[in-house]
Amino acid sequence: MLKVYIVGAGPGDKELITVKGLKLIKEADVIVYDDLIDKDILKEAKDGAELIYVGKRKGKHSFKQEEINKILVEKAKEGKKVVRLKGGDPFIFGRGGEEILELIKNNIPYEVVPGVTSAIAVPASVGIPLTHRGIAKSVTITTGHEREGENKVDYSKFVADTLVILMGITNLEKIVKDLVKSRGKEKPIAIILKGFSKDQKVIKGTLGDILEKAKDIEPPGIIVVGKVVNILER
Ligand SMILES: C[S@@+](CC[C@H](N)C(=O)[O-])C[C@H]1O[C@@H](n2cnc3c(N)ncnc32)[C@H](O)[C@@H]1O
Repeated sequence: MLKVYIVGAGPGDKELITVKGLKLIKEADVIVYDDLIDKDILKEAKDGAELIYVGKRKGKHSFKQEEINKILVEKAKEGKKVVRLKGGDPFIFGRGGEEILELIKNNIPYEVVPGVTSAIAVPASVGIPLTHRGIAKSVTITTGHEREGENKVDYSKFVADTLVILMGITNLEKIVKDLVKSRGKEKPIAIILKGFSKDQKVIKGTLGDILEKAKDIEPPGIIVVGKVVNILER
C-alpha cells in the first residue's frame, strides 16, 4: 500500500512550502486540503489528480474530523497516493496527530512532511522576531480558541517572554483582560490578520489600548505579546 503523506503547506504563500512537499503535490493522485493554504499551490497537481476540499465554509457544512479521516483511509485503501495538505505545520494546532492515529488504526503507512508554521512565519514576515538576544529568550505558542465545556484558559499564567496566540481573534477581549493582570497595560501587542495575503493587516498597540484599536476584526489572525513586537522599530 502507498503511504499517506501529511504535508505542511506553509503559512499561506505557495513559495514557502518545502521542496519535498511540492514534489509530493506534483505526484499525488489525491490531495485532501483545507483552508489557510495558498490555493495556487494546487495548480501544481498533475492532470487528473483528485482535489478534495475539507475546510470550513462560511455558513455551510464543514467537515468533521471523522469524515476527513474516513476519506484518507478510503483513498489509501484504493491504492492512491494521498497527500493530506494542511496549513502551516501539520503538528501545530493542525490535528495531524489525530489523522495519523486513524491511519495507524487501519494499518496504513504514513509520512509527515513538516511545514513552516504561521506561528513563526507570519510575525517574522512583518518584522517581529519571536526571540531576540537580551530581550526575549522564551516563547509560548498557544491557542485562543476555547471549546465549549473545556476549562477556560487563564492567559495570565503563561510566563514566556513572548506569547503567540493562534485562533484568538474572536476571544481577544478575554485574552487581553487576562494578560493585563500579569503583564500590565504597557506591554506591546501586535495582531497580524490574513498574513501573506493582499488583505494582510497589522495592528500594533499595548495591552491597554489594543481593544480600542482592533475593533471589528476578523480571523484568521495571530496575536503576539511581548517586547519583540517593537524591537526592530527602534
Ligand atoms: C487551526 S490553526 C492551524 C495552524 C497551522 N497548522 C500552522 O502551523 O500555521 C489556524 C490558525 O493559524 C493562524 N494562521 C494560519 N495562517 C495564518 C495567516 N496566513 N495569517 C494569520 N493567521 C494565520 C490563525 O490564528 C488561524 O486561526
